[in-house]
Amino acid sequence: MLEDTVCIVCGGGHGLGEETAVAMAEAGASVVVNDLGVDVSGEGSDEQPAEETVERIEAAGGEATAHFGDVADLDYTEELIADTVAEYGAVHGIVNFAGVLRDGMLFKMSEEQFDTVVDVHLKGHFSLLRNAASHWRQRHKAEGGFDRERSFVCLSSGVSVGNVGQANYSAAKAGILGLMRTAALELDQYDVRVNAMWPTAVTRMTEDLPAMAAADPDDLGPQHVTGVPVFLSSAAAEGVTGCTLAVAGDSVSIVSDPERERSLSTNSDDGWSAAELAERWAELTDGFETTRLNSGW
Ligand SMILES: NC(=O)c1ccc[n+]([C@@H]2O[C@H](COP(=O)([O-])OP(=O)(O)OC[C@H]3O[C@@H](n4cnc5c(N)ncnc54)[C@H](O)[C@@H]3O)[C@@H](O)[C@H]2O)c1
Repeated sequence: MLEDTVCIVCGGGHGLGEETAVAMAEAGASVVVNDLGVDVSGEGSDEQPAEETVERIEAAGGEATAHFGDVADLDYTEELIADTVAEYGAVHGIVNFAGVLRDGMLFKMSEEQFDTVVDVHLKGHFSLLRNAASHWRQRHKAEGGFDRERSFVCLSSGVSVGNVGQANYSAAKAGILGLMRTAALELDQYDVRVNAMWPTAVTRMTEDLPAMAAADPDDLGPQHVTGVPVFLSSAAAEGVTGCTLAVAGDSVSIVSDPERERSLSTNSDDGWSAAELAERWAELTDGFETTRLNSGW
């Protein structure tokens, strides 16, 4: 499905990114594998993980190049895109799996814990999308349009709904959805699709979570997720943009966008007063749950 296609897979040194890079190469893509080689908390750095993914791809007869760097660094992501174009002539698809965790309850979460997670996930997506947007806009103008749509796949999470102990991560993953929808709106005119995924799989990031304790890696392994990014990066997904797809094991779902559930107009010319809202609260919310303590995990 990805013959004559050039894809950049960020965070491709482990887990979902590694399996997706391998699946993309199996589907015929030339793959540039980015990774910073950090541990789950974002400590350290190592060129080896990206190189090992490239070795896996090459051993299976595929085409890939390793690229070492931090997705949250705008100068680096500009270089990543420029080097990919220099090596393979174009960038048709980008998927960003780069991610770290620094869990903690809000009452004791440090500024560093918050900033590190928001930086890698949310700013990492901004950094890649900003430079991809600039590159694709310029190429689209220079070439008078594209022969086929370009694709960007963002990594959000069901935890964007909320999860105890993950205020930093859920904020970043919800922010990625807003960024994705705006990017989809802005880049549609340049034939660029932008979508998001909510994956669930056993990786080093999730293997210790209580919810994963009973999971069988054969049923919930990262290899079950790769069909979605390969599909979204292929011509089969033409016109699909602004969507969020959840994928876990044998299930794929389309996720709803936030929308107004019910609206009321005030009876006053001066706008809603707190007193009128209190009086008509039941009218607005009848049939809706208003104690919303949802967890996306
Ligand atoms: N595994 C799941 O169930 C699950 C669920 C929801 C969302 N996700 C998301 O999917 C993505 C991949 O998760 P995973 O489970 O494969 O994790 P993982 O830890 O196995 O892989 C993450 C990779 O990102 C790399 N990385 C981290 N910071 C980087 C940076 N600044 N620049 C470049 N590379 C960097 C790491 O070195 C690692 O190779 C993450 O965004 C994660 O939040 C995973």
